[in-house]
Amino acid sequence: MADRRGKRPDRSQAYADSNLKVCPKCGTLNSPVETNCRMCATPLPRTPPTMQPAPQAPPPVPQQQPAPSVTVTPQAERKYTAPPKAPDASQTAYPAPAYTPPPQPTPRPEPVVTQPQQPQALTVTPARQDTERRYTASSKTPDTSQTAYSQPAYGQQPQGQAQYAPQYRASDTYTPPQPQTPQPAYQPAQPQTQPQWETRSVDMSQRPSAPTPPAQPTPSYQPQYTQAATPEVSQPQYGQYTQPASQPSQPQYGETTVLRPTPRTGMERVERTPLGNILQSISKVDIVGLKKGMNRILDKNHMFRPGFSSSWVAPKPPDDGVKIREYYVKDAKIEIFSIPNQIDVLYHVTLYEYQLPIEHMQLVQIAREELSQHYPKHIQLTRLSQTKTYVTKLGTRLIYKLAKKHGINIGMTRAEEIATVNKLAQILTKYVAGLGVVETMLEDKFVQDVYIDAPASENRVHLRVGGYNDPRIGDKCITNVTVGDEDAEALLSRFRLESGRPFSEAMPVLETDIKEYNTRVTVIGKPLSPEGIAFALRRHSTDPWTLLKLIYLGSVSPLGAGLLSFLIDGRSTILVTGSRGSGKTSLVGALMLEFPQSQRIITIEDTLELPVPEMRELGYKVQGIFVQSSLGGKGELTADDALKVSLRLGESAIVLGEVRGQEAKTLYEAMRAGTAGSAVLGTIHGNTPRAIYERVVFDIGIPPKSFNATDIVVVAGLTSPGGTQKQLRRLTQISEVVKEEGKEGQFNDLMKYDEHSDTLVETEIFKKNSERIKAIADSWGIDYWDAIQNIGVRAAYRAKIVEYAKAYNKPQVLSAKWVAASNNAFWQLVEKYYAKGKKIDYVALLNDWNKWFERSVKYA
Ligand SMILES: Nc1ncnc2c1ncn2[C@@H]1O[C@H](COP(=O)(O)OP(=O)(O)OP(=O)(O)O)[C@@H](O)[C@H]1O
Ligand SMILES: [Mg+2]
Repeated sequence: MADRRGKRPDRSQAYADSNLKVCPKCGTLNSPVETNCRMCATPLPRTPPTMQPAPQAPPPVPQQQPAPSVTVTPQAERKYTAPPKAPDASQTAYPAPAYTPPPQPTPRPEPVVTQPQQPQALTVTPARQDTERRYTASSKTPDTSQTAYSQPAYGQQPQGQAQYAPQYRASDTYTPPQPQTPQPAYQPAQPQTQPQWETRSVDMSQRPSAPTPPAQPTPSYQPQYTQAATPEVSQPQYGQYTQPASQPSQPQYGETTVLRPTPRTGMERVERTPLGNILQSISKVDIVGLKKGMNRILDKNHMFRPGFSSSWVAPKPPDDGVKIREYYVKDAKIEIFSIPNQIDVLYHVTLYEYQLPIEHMQLVQIAREELSQHYPKHIQLTRLSQTKTYVTKLGTRLIYKLAKKHGINIGMTRAEEIATVNKLAQILTKYVAGLGVVETMLEDKFVQDVYIDAPASENRVHLRVGGYNDPRIGDKCITNVTVGDEDAEALLSRFRLESGRPFSEAMPVLETDIKEYNTRVTVIGKPLSPEGIAFALRRHSTDPWTLLKLIYLGSVSPLGAGLLSFLIDGRSTILVTGSRGSGKTSLVGALMLEFPQSQRIITIEDTLELPVPEMRELGYKVQGIFVQSSLGGKGELTADDALKVSLRLGESAIVLGEVRGQEAKTLYEAMRAGTAGSAVLGTIHGNTPRAIYERVVFDIGIPPKSFNATDIVVVAGLTSPGGTQKQLRRLTQISEVVKEEGKEGQFNDLMKYDEHSDTLVETEIFKKNSERIKAIADSWGIDYWDAIQNIGVRAAYRAKIVEYAKAYNKPQVLSAKWVAASNNAFWQLVEKYYAKGKKIDYVALLNDWNKWFERSVKYA
């Protein structure tokens, strides 16, 4: 009777044991007492015939016998180095990887297993998301998942495809790190030459960085190491599957191959019925292993990365996350989820390049390695943009060549091939010469800051965002991305290259700006950041900030904007203060646009954040001066030197990126001496006008009387309405410096933020007796009431533009271009009405301006 697999039960040993006599002619069983066959009368042998013995179970693995090693990369990729074996001629197409054979122990005759049995299970994986190769040697074999706690490999790292495979790891994306599972007691002796990257733990608290693939000749696409596994199973052992010689187990790429131990006796016959075939196929699938693999892939906690990147991305958002928003940044899908019991929303990135077919991922990785090995030494590329262009060009050719060489399908038609190669070359550029995963975030217009805390490989990237106009989205997000240590190093070297500034233990801070991404970068390293490199990237808005945008977002009232415009027009010295990230530089940029286009402006900055090129494009006369960072830099002018130079450049408004040292002294001296030209604008760290006074007078050492050269202090604040975690950027104070003798360090508020109405409210001083407004009115030959009307008209036309933008959903009218145009229209009308009768009719002027706006806005 056949068993349920369609195989005949093996009774030969039973017959042999029972002394029954088998007829040598017809095979009939005869009792031991028969001398002739009861069926055909053939004389029976005196003793039962010797049956073909079944292969005996080999002696159990002696204690010192080297167990096949399993090398585990984080949570996923398992690589196998086979124990030594004589080469099998049938496998010559797939040469076994080089290894250092460990000394062969003498097998003991008696099975003495005193240690936990080492797994003979091998996972031989060109790992990918949907398939995995798994070989389970016997049902006694410990679960392969337990082998994740690295067993050291004998010999060398197998060469082949697996090192180009995407990798997975568990992440702490939505749960705290898992405690490490205890190591199995049995520890085979560590070979001395153990390559470091082969033994990596999946301990969540020590996430390893991506392995650096060892330098090797052009990688082969033949899964060589899988053949290394084959000899292991070709040793016929009782109770173990023996690969038939006619069907060498050469797992095809992408195929799920599961070798299941099947008892073989040599006496069985497989029934070749359709059902038998199906049953046999099913029996080959390691359901448990497959399920585990799938669970791991679908597990929300796992993270994934292709071989060409060392940054991990969790592909699945949490099940309980509620999607608030979805949009695309180039090819990347961005989803914003609110997560129960979590304050910050989740910024979930799905990267196109992390979804590529595996062979395309491999192509990019090989191209990356080739590029790093054969980078033309004679080419000196220092700017990021130059390098990117060069890498794209080189990568396009290289990828095509490699695809052909390795027979990787990149398209059915020529057009498809070109499209694929171009796409892959862009990805290559992003990871070789660009900023990798971070690049996608810096391309998102809603992202304002990107923070990578040290150690980079253990902290998820978090962001500061803005502009979603959705109350459910606060200003802080956590992402599903963790930047690997290698990628963090690569980012640092790119920033160093771009800035030319030093970064070392002696100078562990690097500040620079990356024009390519319109981003200001601050990096800190050891010993300042004991756990490694940390980054803060401030992405500047690609469109310059304007007072109109600030009104639109509620950061300043129209009247506040009108007042600021009036003060700028009146050539005031304005210091903008506030805490970190409160919007000081953005406000100074917006105020620069309030200068008449005829006004020459000189900017002095150590990181280029002000919208100089954009303003120049709009017709403003701006001269930017780039100075040495306070943290040092080679061959750059100090801010003080630059200021001295700019004072000699003739009458111009001066905009200082940040007032902090010696240059402040020079500036105040120049202002006192009246050589500073017209208006002066600058940012300074502080929280209140009084704090600024103290900083300037006591820290920087400006005499109190000199401080009186300052006219106005504007405070940019971060407010938290109702004590929530949300932070709104609001102008909280516009104060004037009291210039009266003996009242140094005193200020009068012209406008103050009111928390209840969430707006800037004008004070009585503003309405009646502001010293600064009066001074400007006097210099223009108008009275105080006219000055207030002038401010009122400026406020009214700004309010009108913002209302229009909201009503017709046309944010473009808030842009710098419209600021320049509407201000020019206003100044032309002022000229016109002044020419008419000296006393300007502000009501008529505003009507005229409205007409101009209605005419012009049709083309917006
Ligand atoms: N009113 C605003 N509303 C929303 N976002 C703003 C506003 N003002 C500025 N931002 C954004 O906030 C971020 C910080 O702005 P900014 O660089 O001007 O701050 P800062 O005070 O100069 O910071 P730092 O102290 O680091 O120099 C930028 O990404 C900017 O685009
Ligand atoms: Mg700033």
